[in-house]
Amino acid sequence: MATFFFYFWIHLSLFYQAAHGYWLMAANNVLTTQRIDPIVNPGVVSTHVHGILGGSNFGLNTTTDDLRASQCTSIPIPQDKSAYWYPQLYFQWSNGTFTSVQGNPVIKAQVLKKINAQDFSLDYLFSDTPGNTTAFPKDFRMLSGNPDLRTFDPSSFAQQAVTFLCLDFNGKSTRFNELPKQRCPSGIRSQINFPSCWDGVNTDSPDHQSHIAFLSTGPDNGTCADPHFPITLPRIFMEVYWVSQEFDDFRRQAAVPDQPFVFSNGDPIGYSYHADFFNGWEDGVLERALEECNCNPYGDPSCCVAKGIFDLDQSKRCFLSTIVDEATLGTLDSLPGNNPVQAHCFEEYFANYTPALLSPAMAFTDTNVPTPTGTVSVPAQTTSIAQSARGTCLGNSSLRPQTPRFMLLGALILSSCWLLS
Ligand SMILES: *[C@@H]1O[C@H](CO)[C@@H](O)[C@H](O)[C@H]1NC(C)=O
Ligand SMILES: *[C@@H]1O[C@H](CO)[C@@H](O)[C@H](O)[C@H]1NC(C)=O
Ligand SMILES: *[C@@H]1O[C@H](CO)[C@@H](O)[C@H](O)[C@H]1NC(C)=O
Ligand SMILES: *[C@@H]1O[C@H](CO)[C@@H](O)[C@H](O)[C@H]1NC(C)=O
Ligand SMILES: *[C@@H]1O[C@H](CO)[C@@H](O)[C@H](O)[C@H]1NC(C)=O
Repeated sequence: MATFFFYFWIHLSLFYQAAHGYWLMAANNVLTTQRIDPIVNPGVVSTHVHGILGGSNFGLNTTTDDLRASQCTSIPIPQDKSAYWYPQLYFQWSNGTFTSVQGNPVIKAQVLKKINAQDFSLDYLFSDTPGNTTAFPKDFRMLSGNPDLRTFDPSSFAQQAVTFLCLDFNGKSTRFNELPKQRCPSGIRSQINFPSCWDGVNTDSPDHQSHIAFLSTGPDNGTCADPHFPITLPRIFMEVYWVSQEFDDFRRQAAVPDQPFVFSNGDPIGYSYHADFFNGWEDGVLERALEECNCNPYGDPSCCVAKGIFDLDQSKRCFLSTIVDEATLGTLDSLPGNNPVQAHCFEEYFANYTPALLSPAMAFTDTNVPTPTGTVSVPAQTTSIAQSARGTCLGNSSLRPQTPRFMLLGALILSSCWLLS
């Protein structure tokens, strides 16, 4: 497991294996917070809210070409118009309402530049040959983590890839596999590693995961030793720093004072934490960075800027106007999509109400001017379809959580989009 370390921002030093080329970038801002997921739920309103980072040409459907055509990006490297997204965190009040927790995301792209015998002595063949990192191909996309999980298998690399740090900048920060059941004086950091071994053929797969694999000895450790996944990609490690400590004074007014936070999909434990990546790097830039941006052992990318590989501008901002016409931030009566809060098992319901879609979607860089808003292109819909639900609580009323109010309206929809095993 990686050494514990924490930082606030790009220029604070941190320690990591110096043999690995990597850089670190703190997103300049969150592009938008909406129920959009063009990988798992393309073309439709997604099941839960995501914080989204990256290129402004993000939408219900996207391609690498779309992202490359973005007017701006919320990533400090303007050549990176990729999209990165993760579930939004909320605080649940005892009266059943939710307030969004502010998240500040940091992305670390690690390049397994030089694989030498000292680091990877277990794999002599590989260590004998310098490992070359391949840039993400066009339209490459992936999902790390599983939104349906409510249990923990410690032997699973995919689950080891998700961790939470209970931050205490004046004391000791502690790592957990679930949301910490204690006050975290400096906030909570959710962390996720993406797989970095690729089959070399498919840019996606039905579950958005089976075209990629984790390294051989752990989510952050090893080589691409599996012959089915021989191509080494840069490894993305994404951290979201949640300003959860602002809620500590209100814990007694929480639905569950011990652990009052819940992700947008209704998970109050954290095992379902996940993140998505859609490649939107400008053609050739990542390729060059993987060859030459190996110049600072602490992840400071300014030496890559000095070499002319890419630019870095931490002052720029980039926002996307509302596409799914509903509130996702602030205090809300229910989680968007009416997701019930469910621990230990889950049932998937869709709200019978689908918000309107607005278009055009507009990029903007200044929050001091009125946010641009499109007009309704697809009206809101109320449906009442009786279908069997999907989930691990099904057929076990002892596990079934409190019946949420909206269920009285009778919308149970089977989602065939998620084929996660
Ligand atoms: C990588 O895995 C090896 C073998 O399990 C272990 O000895 C080593 O400490 C790990 N390195 C890191 C950085 O976790
Ligand atoms: C979005 O993608 C889905 C799945 O590929 C497709 O069915 C749908 O028509 C697309 N929607 C739009 C608006 O392009
Ligand atoms: C629920 O409690 C929160 C926090 O006290 C408050 O802001 C909100 O207005 C309440 N909502 C309702 C519907 O009572
Ligand atoms: C690694 O790069 C070297 C030099 O560019 C090249 O000759 C070699 O074929 C590459 N090896 C792999 C496994 O891609
Ligand atoms: C329902 O869940 C409880 C608690 O985990 C378990 O003991 C019981 O066997 C389950 N029943 C069925 C029918 O799955």
